[in-house]
Amino acid sequence: MDISTFIPLSTYYSYLKRFVISPTTMGTIAPSSRWLCYEMLDKLNWHQDVQIAELGAGTGVITHQILKRMSAHSSLDVFEIEPSFATELRKIDDKRLRIYTTSAEKLDSHYNMIISGLPFLSINRKLGLKILKRVHSELLKTQGCFVLFQYTTRYEKTLSRYFHLEKRRVIRNVPPAWVYYCTPKIK
Ligand SMILES: C[S@@+](CC[C@H](N)C(=O)[O-])C[C@H]1O[C@@H](n2cnc3c(N)ncnc32)[C@H](O)[C@@H]1O
Repeated sequence: MDISTFIPLSTYYSYLKRFVISPTTMGTIAPSSRWLCYEMLDKLNWHQDVQIAELGAGTGVITHQILKRMSAHSSLDVFEIEPSFATELRKIDDKRLRIYTTSAEKLDSHYNMIISGLPFLSINRKLGLKILKRVHSELLKTQGCFVLFQYTTRYEKTLSRYFHLEKRRVIRNVPPAWVYYCTPKIK
């Protein structure tokens, strides 16, 4: 197995610490497992140059997996609101990557793929809707796709207002998760 898929213990500590300080913004006590990362990313088409955004990257468990898969001329914009995580992300030495320490609703460019680790059920509902609307409008222009995970199916109804959905269950994660592959509905 590739050694870079192992998550260091310090990452678990950072997540737990942030969860105690701000449970609604974190939404979880543990980083996504490699099985969850694979389920989110392996279905996507990496054989072309793409513009990608990642929302709520934490310390970068999914970020590293995206960078591994994307082509040399693709780009990845990461939106992470927590400054200490953004500092950690800036240590990744890759010219294709840009880190924004700003909230995901500031997203303002065309993307082919938007990958999210945002805890939509625990963040402010109005903010969540604002982010969904931005994601929808950017992806409509490219006919791109939005991939996210959630720990329950309770956000499905809201998601389905904007997107066509396909979902897969990932048991090997703490807690088990649902991965949603979403394409924008034409409104
Ligand atoms: C559940 S963690 C996911 C972290 C990582 N992607 C993973 O899968 O392990 C959620 C992350 O979203 C970030 N976050 C929460 N609200 C945000 C917002 N409005 N804009 C950008 N990031 C946000 C939190 O700081 C946290 O790092």
